[in-house]
Order: sequence, then structure tokens, then C-alpha cells
Amino acid sequence: MPANKKLLMLPGDGIGPEVMGEVKRVIDWMDKRRTVSFDITEGLVGGSAYDAHGTPLADETMNEALGVDAVLLGAVGGPKWETLPFEVQPERGLLRLRKEMDLFANLRPAVVFDALAEASTLKLDVVKGLDIMIVRELTGGIYFGDPRGIETLPDGQRRGINTQVYTTNEIRRVARVGFELARKRSNRLCSAEKANVMEAGVLWREEVTKLHEEEFSDVELTHMYADNAAMQLVRNPKQFDVIVTDNLFGDILSDEASMCTGSLGMLPSASLGEADSSGCRHAMYEPVHGSAPDIAGQGKANPLATLLSFGMCLRYSFDMMDDADLIDQAVQNVLNAGLRTADIMEAGKKEISTAEMGEALLAELDKLAA
Ligand code: IPM
Ligand code: MG
Repeated sequence: MPANKKLLMLPGDGIGPEVMGEVKRVIDWMDKRRTVSFDITEGLVGGSAYDAHGTPLADETMNEALGVDAVLLGAVGGPKWETLPFEVQPERGLLRLRKEMDLFANLRPAVVFDALAEASTLKLDVVKGLDIMIVRELTGGIYFGDPRGIETLPDGQRRGINTQVYTTNEIRRVARVGFELARKRSNRLCSAEKANVMEAGVLWREEVTKLHEEEFSDVELTHMYADNAAMQLVRNPKQFDVIVTDNLFGDILSDEASMCTGSLGMLPSASLGEADSSGCRHAMYEPVHGSAPDIAGQGKANPLATLLSFGMCLRYSFDMMDDADLIDQAVQNVLNAGLRTADIMEAGKKEISTAEMGEALLAELDKLAA
């Protein structure tokens, strides 16, 4: 058997621990099948880390994250920590992980499951069969640019500053991920920026165009202003296959795309670093939804986005395509069987708890693997 895969679980805050609990059951299931073994360690991130250590991510946890094959994260944040100083808010823990692991490529698929197509606020024919992939740059841009801060002016007013910065290499490496994914899908890439307003957007467009000419001329490339992309996403989302965009636009467009699917509770994500010569890369997998403090601890959370994120982990970190397909298929089967957590409940379906959803998934996995 190959060496054990090292996983660091960071359940985080709110519903994070509950949804992560269901992933642990799937991992146990896989361990029992003995096709693969995981060495799992667990750590704190976000508000729970602040409560224990006075920081949203302890240095030891950061170091552990750098040493494992993949990190699985639940969610961070909650009202309890909203009034903390900016530097120790739960989100800083997440941003530190992204930055120090250099997870520059954030893959956010927005897929409409047939069984849930009616749940979208958009018309059925607009979203049915939707399957797009947003590739969001994750370690640069205005999220991390300097200068930043809040300063007081001589006349007593205050001024808040953030800076949009991108270098050639930052643009090229994330665009490359977009082109490569497009090749494995419908071979179409749309790059979104604001080249009509921002120099960083002009550079973005130029570099993506150059890379296209140099290495990816077989892929169909289009450019779109990010505001137009936001509009097109609700007008006709199926025109897109892969979208590549910067950190801030990607944050916004991926939330929008998630709502096309009607169920934020269903969307996974992968954040990837550069592969080394042996193909290994830092990686972190997390659901797109937040910590949902209003329903935390009540067994109401939907664990499917976190389970699908684990599926992405199998796919992108461990090259275990069959097992990843198995998880995707099991999710579809439980949905087709009419089982729903509260967030995706519809008339005529059966509402079940977080743990029951986990059990239903395991039962499907048993059937599929039999
Ligand atoms: C996301 C979130 C984060 C972001 C927050 C929690 C810092 O909205 O992952 O999309 O803005 O990147
Ligand atoms: Mg966001």
C-alpha cells in the first residue's frame, strides 16, 4: 500500500465541526475498504483558535498545514468575534493559510444538480444542466496589496486605503490553471477584469492574451469586463465554461454563480498552490458556504458541500479519480432519492439532519462500491 496521505482537518467555527464530522465518517469508510489510509491531525482556526490561543491561527497550526498533503477546512467566523480587532478576526486565519501556503488558484465549481434545479431563483431553463468553473486568483490583488490601512488626515477626516496589485507571474500562473482546466472541459475560457478602468486590469488582459498566444491557442479565449460578467451570469450562465478572474471579482462572481445553482450549501472549493517537480502541491479544500452561526449545533447544516470538497481533495491532491467520482455520484443519488437538509428542502421531499445525510451518503457509497 502507498504511504499514508496526510490530512489536516480544521473544522473552524459555527457549523464547521458538524459538517466536518460527516467527512470523518466517509474517511473511516475509505480506511475500512483499505484502498487508502489517511493520517489525520486536527487543529483550530478562526474564532475557536482565537478563544484558545488569542490568535485565529497559531503558528504551530500554520506549520502543520505546510507539512501535510492537504488541508480540509470547515468554516470560520461568527457574531461572537465580530467586534475583535481586525488583525485577530477569524477571517485573518483563513487569509493567512491561503497566503502562506501560496494557494493562488481557487477552483469554485457551480454545478446545478438535476434534482435541485427547481431551487434556483432563476428560471429552470436558464440553469438546468449548468456546470461552470470559476478560477479565482486567491493570494494577490486588493486582498493583500500595499499600501493598506486607515489613516487620519490633517483635517480630522479618516481615509481607508487598499491597493489592487498584480504582477506578470501572478496573472500568468492563475491563467494557466484556467486554460488547463478549460482543456479538460469544453475548451472555453473567459477572463474577467476591469481593463476599462484599472491598470491592473489592462495588465491582466495583456498577460492572459500573451499566454494564450504562446501556449494555449487551441483554447477559445474571451475577455469580459467583470461587471458585464456579473450581468451575464444571471442572464445566461450557460454561455460560460471556465471563468478566470482576480481575487475580489472572483469572490463576488463566485457568490453570484453559487446562487444560480440555488444552493450555496452544495458548493465545494479547492485552493491550490504550484505543483513541484514531483507533482505535489499545497492544497486546501473547503465548502463555499460560511459558518452559519444561526443554525450551528442544531444538526441542521448541509454537509454535502464539505463532502464534495473532500471529493475535490481526492481528485486534485491524490489523483483518486474513481473515488472522487464515487462521492459525486453518491451525492446525486441521495438527492435523487428525495433526501434534503433544511437549506435545500422543497415540498414533497424528506427533511433530514446533518448526521442522517451523512448516513444516507455512506449507504449510497456502500451500494456503489459493492
Ligand atoms: C470566501 C469568503 C472569504 C473571502 C472571507 C471569509 C474572508 O468570502 O472565501 O469567498 O472574502 O475570500
Ligand atoms: Mg466570498
